[in-house]
Parts: sequence; C-alpha cells; structure tokens
Amino acid sequence: MPSLCLSVSHLSSLSLCSQTFVFTDAEDPQLQPRLGDHLIHTHCSSAHTRQALSCKMFYEYDTFLRSGRKWLCHVDDDNYVNVVALLKLLSQYHHTEDVYLGRPSTGTPLQASYSTQGAAPQVRFWFATGGAGFCLSRSLALRMQPWTSGGAFMNTSDMIRLPDDCTVGFIVEGLLGVALTHSPLFHSHLENLSTITDLPAQVTLSYGPEDNTVDIRGAFSTQQDPTRFRSVHCLLYPDTPWCPRLT
Ligand SMILES: *[C@@H]1O[C@H](CO)[C@@H](O)[C@H](O)[C@H]1NC(C)=O
Ligand SMILES: *[C@@H]1O[C@H](CO)[C@@H](O)[C@H](O)[C@H]1NC(C)=O
Repeated sequence: MPSLCLSVSHLSSLSLCSQTFVFTDAEDPQLQPRLGDHLIHTHCSSAHTRQALSCKMFYEYDTFLRSGRKWLCHVDDDNYVNVVALLKLLSQYHHTEDVYLGRPSTGTPLQASYSTQGAAPQVRFWFATGGAGFCLSRSLALRMQPWTSGGAFMNTSDMIRLPDDCTVGFIVEGLLGVALTHSPLFHSHLENLSTITDLPAQVTLSYGPEDNTVDIRGAFSTQQDPTRFRSVHCLLYPDTPWCPRLT
C-alpha cells in the first residue's frame, strides 16, 4: 500500500504528512502507528446515515479550526488526491478571503429553510459534492462557526434534513451568501470517470462500482490496480520506488 505521506522530490520542502488528518469511526491498528495523533477516532456511528456523516464532518471542521491551517480540504477514502494540482488550484485564491471550492453534484441548486417552525423562507443554494472533495478557506470556515461549532453542525443538518455536504452548502451559500466556486477538477464516482482527459491536471479522482474508473493504460494491469490509482500515481511521480521502470 502506498504511503499516506507522499514524498515528492520537488516538493521536499512541504511536509504533506503534517497536513493530512484521517478521520475514522473505528479503531485502525494499521494506520495508528503511521499517523499517530493525525488519526482521529471520532467515535461517530459507522452507519451511512445523515447523523453519522455530519458527526464526522463536524470533527473534520473542528480539527481544522484548532490546527490553525489555511485551507480545509475534505476528501473521501475512495478519492485520489493530486497534491500538485490541488496546490496549484489553491494558489489562485487566498485563505483570508471567503472561498468554497468544489464540484456541484446536481444541475440545479437545492432549497431548504432554516427553521423549526417551518415558516422561514426557502433559500436556494449550490453545494459541492462531498464524494468529489471540496475546500474551504480559513476565513470562510471561521464565519461558519455559529452553525458548525459545539454540535451546531449536527443540529443544522437535522434541521434541513440533508447530509453533511449539503449542509456545508446550505451554511455557505444559503446563510452566509458566499457563492460556491464551481471547479471541474474534482471528481466523484457519480461521474463517468472514463471520460476524464488530462489526468495530471485533475485535483481529485475516484472509482466506483461496475468498473467506473479513470481510463489509463499505465504501469499496472486492472487486476493489479483495480482502482487505477497506483497507475495514476506512477504517471504523476514516475520516480516513486514502487513504480515499474517504463522503458
Ligand atoms: C442542538 O440541539 C439540541 C436539541 O435541540 C440543543 O439542546 C442544543 O443546545 C443544540 N446545540 C447547539 C450547539 O445549537
Ligand atoms: C462512459 O463513457 C465511455 C466513453 O465515452 C462509454 O464507452 C461508456 O459506455 C460510458 N459508461 C456509462 C456507464 O455511461
């Protein structure tokens, strides 16, 4: 299994490990020694329910705020993150501005209202699909606090009866009036991944059932590398020791 701590020669000044946190709902004896206190056991339910997902998103948000870092980028465990492309994208924005970056999963905005009484007006908002990954600037994350901190995120999610990624969109677009910056460089398994061209430019990739994977001939066969992520990694970083030497 490739290391979570990417070492890329021309990025050697960057300690990517120190910027990566893994959030889990179960003990993980294999990851624990490699990640130390960057493996966060949330004790959230492992169910795929709205509450369980929002619980984990809350821990990500809370850990980010306490870390003092500039950008919160959420990715799922079935994503490949192209760190170089991610840094290039983020370099076009500033963490002191309100920035919400990602791919909308639907062709139209959602609607919800923030009220227990049901009389509040509906707000329309776009959200970035969590399965493709998304980023929030520190400035924006701080402004979200009234609806996210100290259990409020779960309450907000319950109120609008929508999952974690929709709730982020509701808070950012619907309540704070900050527009999602639509980026085509984030990818979830909801897309037909085989149609993606220019793999080195993409920020995230994914894989899904029924061989929904990126189309890459690459270093490994589909048997050796069913997700195609190892082949993508060797395309991006051919000097990686475990990548076959292509002559
Ligand atoms: C969340 O909702 C519960 C139950 O309504 C309430 O007791 C609690 O104060 C709320 N927490 C926040 C942070 O809004
Ligand atoms: C995905 O796109 C490829 C290439 O255009 C096509 O051959 C394939 O049928 C598509 N798959 C689905 C499930 O739409």
